[in-house]
Amino acid sequence: MDFDALVERRGTYCSKWDEMEDLFGVPASDGLAMWTADSDYPTADCVIEALRAATDFGVFGYYRGMGLFRDAVAWWLQNRHGWTIDPTWILPTQGLGNAIAMCLDVYTQPGDNVVIFSPVYHEFALKVGRAGRKVTECPLVLNGDRYELDLDDAQSRLTGNETMLIWCSPQNPSGRIWTPAELRAVADFAERNGLTLVSDEVHHDLIYPGETFVTFDNAAPQARDRLVMLCASSKTFNLAGLKVGCMVIPDETLRGRMASRMRALDYTPSSLGVIATTAAYSPQGAAWVDAQIAHLVRNRTIFDAGMAAIPGVRSLPLQSTYLAWVDFSGTGMPFAEFQQRIAQGARIAASPGPSFGAGGETFMRFNLATQGARVEEAVTRMKAAFADLQ
Ligand SMILES: Cc1ncc(COP(=O)(O)O)c(C=O)c1O
Repeated sequence: MDFDALVERRGTYCSKWDEMEDLFGVPASDGLAMWTADSDYPTADCVIEALRAATDFGVFGYYRGMGLFRDAVAWWLQNRHGWTIDPTWILPTQGLGNAIAMCLDVYTQPGDNVVIFSPVYHEFALKVGRAGRKVTECPLVLNGDRYELDLDDAQSRLTGNETMLIWCSPQNPSGRIWTPAELRAVADFAERNGLTLVSDEVHHDLIYPGETFVTFDNAAPQARDRLVMLCASSKTFNLAGLKVGCMVIPDETLRGRMASRMRALDYTPSSLGVIATTAAYSPQGAAWVDAQIAHLVRNRTIFDAGMAAIPGVRSLPLQSTYLAWVDFSGTGMPFAEFQQRIAQGARIAASPGPSFGAGGETFMRFNLATQGARVEEAVTRMKAAFADLQ
């Protein structure tokens, strides 16, 4: 797989490139799209072949391949993450955004509070609000280059009305991988406060060499009776448009509540998403992911060196995933100024740090899941947009 082969996504109705002008004022003609979390390269050959076989067949009637899907997910979790599960613990969803919304719907009541640790994936807070629930925001502490938990501070922020914690592991943004000790501390926090623990692990596959990711249940099995683990092929294999994801719920009662709500809503995923994920979670898919990680290491190296060359700008060292989290506080510029330089000067559509909540005020998030030449171009443009600081 050549991750560097240029792919023109403009004009394909993709959100990332075709919406950047409307959303960020970055010209569609020569802007660089580095915001939403999808990739600019095609998915793995094994996935394309499975989809091609399905479309060549051309009959898309009712599908009963969920057993294959569950076995493939269980295989992946065992082989890539060392997590042994019973395939019956898996409930398929229509992507992970949808899985989060379903968790809010089933495990909380209108008016409840939901704990999040910010800066974090902006949709957590948005979905909590849309569901008529309230956010209890607990800021992470940035210690040097590393985000850390302050659970005493978090405890002091609780209102007593909290019923759920939505946890992001690895963290989006920042790519922080939590240690088993931190996960155990989070499990204790959830238990102490009677919270359902939704562990969103969608970024768990893109782990950089030398780093170790541990799934929540392996680190803290004591939290099993309150755990809903979420994962998907959408980020890892660039399949977000196919809208499929998984909840893995070890506890029978918790799982039963979700399953019965899904039955009530006649909730089933589309066959093509299921076929794609089943093909992805395979030895061939695993080899493709390893090649992708090597590509992302190269992109990350180019990007970080470029940012380090701009005085006052630093890209936090990524432990996982392709979302570079870049701090502009050292420039002394207000948010509006560096955002304007990036959008209008560099003509790059990046995600605004403040949208990720408290702690994001001096940051922008750049998606590096693209061709190396585009990362080099981004660095050149960024250096020019901040050239007066040299
Ligand atoms: C932490 C996290 N959860 C969920 C999602 C949404 O996933 P999906 O596209 O499968 O709905 C994203 C997408 O960026 C994400 O970063």
